[in-house]
Amino acid sequence: MTKKVGLLTAGSDCPGLNAAVRAIGKEAQGSFGMQITAFQDGFQGLVENRVFPIDGSSFSGILSMGGTILGTSRDKPDHLVIEGKGDFDGTEDAIRTYQKHHLDCLVCIGGKETQEAALYLMGKGLNVITLPKAIDNDVAMTDTTIGFDTALEIATESIDRLHSTALSHHRILIVELMGRNTGWLTLGAGMAGGADVIIIPEIAYDPEKIAQTILTRSQARKNFSIIAVAENIISQEYVSFFNRLEQANTRLRMGEDREKVAGQIKDFKNQQKGSTTYLANRLEKYTGLETRIAILGYILRGGAPSARDRLLATQLGTTCVSLIVDNHYGVMVASRDARPTPVPLDQVVGKAKPVPLDHPWIISARRVGTSFGD
Ligand code: F6P
Repeated sequence: MTKKVGLLTAGSDCPGLNAAVRAIGKEAQGSFGMQITAFQDGFQGLVENRVFPIDGSSFSGILSMGGTILGTSRDKPDHLVIEGKGDFDGTEDAIRTYQKHHLDCLVCIGGKETQEAALYLMGKGLNVITLPKAIDNDVAMTDTTIGFDTALEIATESIDRLHSTALSHHRILIVELMGRNTGWLTLGAGMAGGADVIIIPEIAYDPEKIAQTILTRSQARKNFSIIAVAENIISQEYVSFFNRLEQANTRLRMGEDREKVAGQIKDFKNQQKGSTTYLANRLEKYTGLETRIAILGYILRGGAPSARDRLLATQLGTTCVSLIVDNHYGVMVASRDARPTPVPLDQVVGKAKPVPLDHPWIISARRVGTSFGD
């Protein structure tokens, strides 16, 4: 019997999504005669039954295209924010759409939240398979994610370009990269681009230590410096200040007050994160050197995928189809030891993937004299 497969891309976009859509579409339709129903704008399209029109040529000519032809959104089936409808739980609608199309399975390509949403739908009786994507490389149980390699290339090229201007003006140039709460992108690009200092969320920094590194470079007549900084970095001062606040709070006797204060501390903590400007000001003050910031932001997510991302997306996509043929559901198609490997979704969800402090990249970077500001 012809299998019917639902397909969507969810969460933030990244290069390589179309390569995955193409691989799944071509293999499922071409080799196995499966019927694909693609939904627009992630889980929003599933909830609203908005189907992306597919014809014989839909999966051709998209391999090298950035973004996602299906569109995407950050909405989750149980929490959507839609203009005119406000916040609502679309779980029942999502299940209805799945049943209406008589789907055998729903394939969700996305990041951490998408894995979570897929597991949630699995709990509601849907057959799901996911593929991991994220420029942040922060999805657990997979060595890498679709989009990470391209972002790494863009970031590295940008750092190369910043070198010549920093050198000409004898400036400190701080380049801020995305990555959410992980430092994979900043670490990788910082190393590949030869940054003198790399600051990632996993290692709390001391601005004075960074200043010392820069002054030592100046004494050696290297009167410019490149600092690669992840979004959401934290300083050592920040860590000890909040540790003291939290300890004081645990000494509070009243249960309810303690809860309230804990909530206030959490909000305050989030407000203090991502302090690239604060770091720049401190460095200028300590070193007396002109300091500039370049924020790469969404540039990192745009444009054509790298060759590696196209290869990864194609392999994960075709493996996904083999799993559908075998009725092997409830898994994420991970890349483990460079091989597509199904991993049960409940082993993926709820896990963080920080850069381990003894990661070979960190060890090598330290060995060539890169400072982590610690
Ligand atoms: O997860 C990808 C990412 O680009 C993160 O690096 C960044 O923190 C976030 O998305 C930005 O989200 P949005 O697209 O919702 O602004």
